[in-house]
Amino acid sequence: MPGWRNWQTRRSQKPVEITLRVGSTPTLGTRSSMKYTVKPTDILKFDGDTLLVSAFLDKAGERMLSKEAALLDRTAAGALTLLLADEDFKPAVGSTFVWYLQDMPFRRVILVGFGRKEKLTSVALQTAVAAGIRRAGMIGGKRVGFAVPEEIALAFESQKAGQGIVVGAALGSYIFIRHKSEGDKELKKQLDELVLLTSAGRLSAMALGVRTGELIANAVRLARDLVNEPPSVTTPTHLADVARSFVKKGSPVTCEVFGKAEIAKMGMGGLMGIAQGSDEEPKFIRLNYKGGGRKTIVLAGKGITFDTGGLSLKPAEHMETMKLDMAAAATVLAVFSVLPALAPKINVVGLIAATENMLGPKAVKPGDVVKIMNGKTVEILNTDAEGRMVLADALSYASKHLKPDGIIDLATLTGACMVALGQDIAGVFSNNTALGAAVLKAAKDAGELVWEMPLAPEYKELLKSPVADLKNIGGGRYGGAITAALFLEEFVGKDIPWVHLDIAGPAFAEKDTPLMPRGGTGFGVRMLLEFLQNAA
Ligand code: BES
Ligand code: MN
Ligand code: ZN
Repeated sequence: MPGWRNWQTRRSQKPVEITLRVGSTPTLGTRSSMKYTVKPTDILKFDGDTLLVSAFLDKAGERMLSKEAALLDRTAAGALTLLLADEDFKPAVGSTFVWYLQDMPFRRVILVGFGRKEKLTSVALQTAVAAGIRRAGMIGGKRVGFAVPEEIALAFESQKAGQGIVVGAALGSYIFIRHKSEGDKELKKQLDELVLLTSAGRLSAMALGVRTGELIANAVRLARDLVNEPPSVTTPTHLADVARSFVKKGSPVTCEVFGKAEIAKMGMGGLMGIAQGSDEEPKFIRLNYKGGGRKTIVLAGKGITFDTGGLSLKPAEHMETMKLDMAAAATVLAVFSVLPALAPKINVVGLIAATENMLGPKAVKPGDVVKIMNGKTVEILNTDAEGRMVLADALSYASKHLKPDGIIDLATLTGACMVALGQDIAGVFSNNTALGAAVLKAAKDAGELVWEMPLAPEYKELLKSPVADLKNIGGGRYGGAITAALFLEEFVGKDIPWVHLDIAGPAFAEKDTPLMPRGGTGFGVRMLLEFLQNAA
């Protein structure tokens, strides 16, 4: 595996604490060196250096301290209340207020805002914790406690509370420093340990959530790494190597990788057509997880490792971030990296159609007609609408070779979806109400933003071609996310429940937020893992 060897060399040249562990752990990529523990401790006796406590907004929009924050305030004769009034601190989600104390074992207190008490969503929980952790790191915190308030433990139940807190902390502290010569300096600013302080009765459930949260967060971090790596590193061959690395002796994960000749032989004209402009060999990757149980779910990911647009070339500004176009593939890989450890009782098949979308003398031309694996022909009018071409083959493969109870595909598919929903929200399309609803619920519980979009049959005629069964663009300026989804539907077997997630917006963050530093976000990992655990 040349790709991995490369990374290892780089690592030995520059030893940093974040390590890439090959073969020995369930996840690859940058694992946090942060430790998470749970303790039933009297907060006044917490022996770390920094304590996080919480504040909420009540129904009237007034500031409300948690019991623990109020206790600190009383201990300091009301000093906190005075300071907060002076600063007019409003505990909106992710707001923080630092308070230095003298007579406590810990010297720093950070009051973290969780927003409206009755609107405590998973997104709010993760975001607020991430903001608190970041603030703690900035002021030199190393051993940081979080006094988990009753409000959070009740709103989520102990286990999910522990999970959400750790996911927030681990994602909020994610940094991508592999290619920075001073990266270890950034690493040194990170916390060593986060201690969740809770009551004895909640201890074991919360500890379970902490462990699950760590697994989930490590998977998200792997997806982020894969997106953040340069596109000439994360080639289709590299993605296949990552997939293969999940296969270990006795593990429930197996993997098959199909190269160019096999892809051609299977009749995948969409993947072949897009790949023909590139020097990199395309790969069709299949991962299998046997968790038992009766159900099989297929996760299919767009794996365009770089999208130039092909001959329908993108302008330079639009191309700058196009290493992100394998984000869906990264999400599928990340899910598989952690399935053995989470062990949901369900069978999962991961499919990744991986290629570059390049231009050159061999590249597919606007007007060319290709045949997808299910026999349908497509006139490629815009070579930049390449994602649907490779996914068409993946969906055809799933429909032909597997009899899944559901297919969920993910793709950084359309700029139009970003026009519709903005950069933070993914579009959800489904041909099946129950599966659609299950995915929407999983997203909400896992703290990822999605919104349902219509699979309107009225727009199907926009995909009619004068020379082939379909054309690969709707044409015109409007409804591009919908016509793309309708195109994909043509390749889903009759009666197979299917959900399509257009993650073009949320797959990549253009600016830092508490939960997601600029770059790959690992979008989809949390909701898919939640979905699979619920579906089992
Ligand atoms: N990978 C892009 C979509 C994209 C754009 C993802 C911006 C993330 C950020 C996709 O392959 C693409 O180029 N789509 C075209 C489709 C069009 C030609 C019908 C688009 O959205 O412009
Ligand atoms: Mn494109
Ligand atoms: Zn693309």
